[in-house]
Amino acid sequence: MTDFPVRRMRRLRATATLRRMLAEVSLTSDHLIAPLFVREGQGVRQEIASMPGQYQLSVDTALETAARWAGKGIRAVLLFGIPEAKDEIGSEAWNDQAAVQRLCRRIKQDHPELLVITDVCLCEYTSHGHCGTLCERADGQTDVDNDLTLASLAKTAVSHARAGADIVAPSSMMDGQVAAIRKALDAAGLTGTAILSYAVKFASALYGPFRDAAESAPQFGDRRTYQMDYRSPRQAPLEAATDAAEGADLLMVKPAAAYLDVIADVRRRFDLPLAAYHVSGEYSMIKAAAANGWLDERGAAIEITTALRRAGADLVITYFAEQLADWLREG
Ligand code: PBG
Ligand code: ZN
Repeated sequence: MTDFPVRRMRRLRATATLRRMLAEVSLTSDHLIAPLFVREGQGVRQEIASMPGQYQLSVDTALETAARWAGKGIRAVLLFGIPEAKDEIGSEAWNDQAAVQRLCRRIKQDHPELLVITDVCLCEYTSHGHCGTLCERADGQTDVDNDLTLASLAKTAVSHARAGADIVAPSSMMDGQVAAIRKALDAAGLTGTAILSYAVKFASALYGPFRDAAESAPQFGDRRTYQMDYRSPRQAPLEAATDAAEGADLLMVKPAAAYLDVIADVRRRFDLPLAAYHVSGEYSMIKAAAANGWLDERGAAIEITTALRRAGADLVITYFAEQLADWLREG
């Protein structure tokens, strides 16, 4: 009964109106979070070579950029800071006068409606480029000390929240980071600051361009003792469950497009809002192919970011945010 020639799937694809009415997922500027790199200085607008169209900005130019994005309907920015000076423990991360904190205050003054999310990690701030304080393990290997790092992350989150960040987003993959940050925020009276946990974050070659952008490449080794192994997806619900239990308000899966199975699994199992981070390498691959004339940039970017929504992401963090806002408005 349902087989050809009675069943013809093409009937419902025949017109743009039908296709539009039957679309099961949507992507609008309401779903987008735009990453932004801020450093010290004035009038800085330094394009990132491996991420065409993305810039390192100073507080003044970042504020202009955020205002332009808000004018295009983007609701949220995700701030990353690049310090002038780095040290062993990354202490510039919790300096209340650092670029991220100053930019938070300026955005909340001038554009209070724009949601400010801050990345809470130490790799941009440590001289060795790892996401926390180093230690020597019993087996002689150098590694990141989990519990020492928690104290630094907590101080950083409190500094960001005091500067007006609406949401803090810990990305270091230290065990217990959400609990440590929630406890410190609450102790500081910042009970209203939400936590977006990078709960399910894999060690990935796709972060390569970001490490140029944020000047945060590890000076030795890699991040595989703290970020997840992409061959072990059953750890994803465990990571998400611990962060949810520790008080995460929103969860994240990262990277995104190569991890649609993981996004769909976390979506099915958890009711917390879910973000997917379409990371730097995923952005740069499309940019490079488009620059060569090998694919249509607009079509590819919309298709892949919409696929993140289809997999179950509520929010999409993407370097395409401004372009998507333009394209989606044009319809
Ligand atoms: C910091 C951090 C990274 C990214 C977001 N936060 C880099 C890393 O873990 O090495 C990657 C984002 C991207 O590639 O776009 N821990
Ligand atoms: Zn880090």
